[in-house]
Amino acid sequence: MAYNPKDHYFKKAKKENFAARSIFKLEEIDQKLKIFRPGQMVLDLGAAPGSWSQYASARIGAGGRLLGVDITPIELSLPNATFISADLRDLNLEDVFREQGFAPVFDIVMSDMAPKTTGIKMTDQARSLELCELALETARKFLKPKGHFVCKLFQSEDFNAFRDQMKTMFDRVDVLKPKATRQISKEIFLTGLSRRGNVRPS
Ligand SMILES: C[S@@+](CC[C@H](N)C(=O)[O-])C[C@H]1O[C@@H](n2cnc3c(N)ncnc32)[C@H](O)[C@@H]1O
Repeated sequence: MAYNPKDHYFKKAKKENFAARSIFKLEEIDQKLKIFRPGQMVLDLGAAPGSWSQYASARIGAGGRLLGVDITPIELSLPNATFISADLRDLNLEDVFREQGFAPVFDIVMSDMAPKTTGIKMTDQARSLELCELALETARKFLKPKGHFVCKLFQSEDFNAFRDQMKTMFDRVDVLKPKATRQISKEIFLTGLSRRGNVRPS
C-alpha cells in the first residue's frame, strides 16, 4: 500500500482534536490491556506533540497527574499535566520531580520516544533501542510495584533481548502492532504489566 501521510488515522485525529495520530496506538493498547485508571501518576517520555498525554490525561482524570518530557516544546495545556522541554539523556529527573512537585513514583511510565531517522536501518534501530533502554532504566528507578510500562521499539534483531529484559521486571509482557501503525512502519509496542518487587532507591 502506498504511503499516505494523511490517512484515515491522521484525519480522525484532526477531527477529534488530538495532537497526533499516535493517540490511536495508545488507545488500542489501553483497550486491550486496561492500563489506565482514574487517579494515576503518569510519566510520558517523548511526549510531543502530545496526543498520548491528551489520552492519558483524560483517562486519569482530575485526581491524576502527568509529567511529559520531550526535546520539542509541547504547546498543549491540560489541567492535570506538566510538560518539560529537555533531552531525557541529559535530564536529572529527580530535580524535575522536586521542582515540579511530583513524588518520584509513577503508576505508568510510557515512552513513544523515537530518534530522528537517518534512513540507515541499523543506525535507526540502534538509536531506537538506546531510547527504549533509557525508558526502561527510568521505569526501573521510578515505576511503582504493580505499575505498567509501555515502550515503542523499531524492530531489530535486538528485540528478543530487550523483551527478555522486560520479562525479568514485569509479570507479563505483551507485544503489539496497533492498527494505527502504518503498514510500512517497523515500530512495535512492548507493554510490561505489573512491575515486580520494590522500587530500587536511586
Ligand atoms: C513519535 S513522537 C511522540 C508522539 C507522542 N507520543 C504523541 O502522541 O504526540 C517521538 C518523540 O520522541 C522525542 N524524543 C526523541 N528522543 C528524545 C530524547 N532523548 N529525550 C526526549 N524526547 C525525545 C522526539 O522529540 C519526538 O517528539
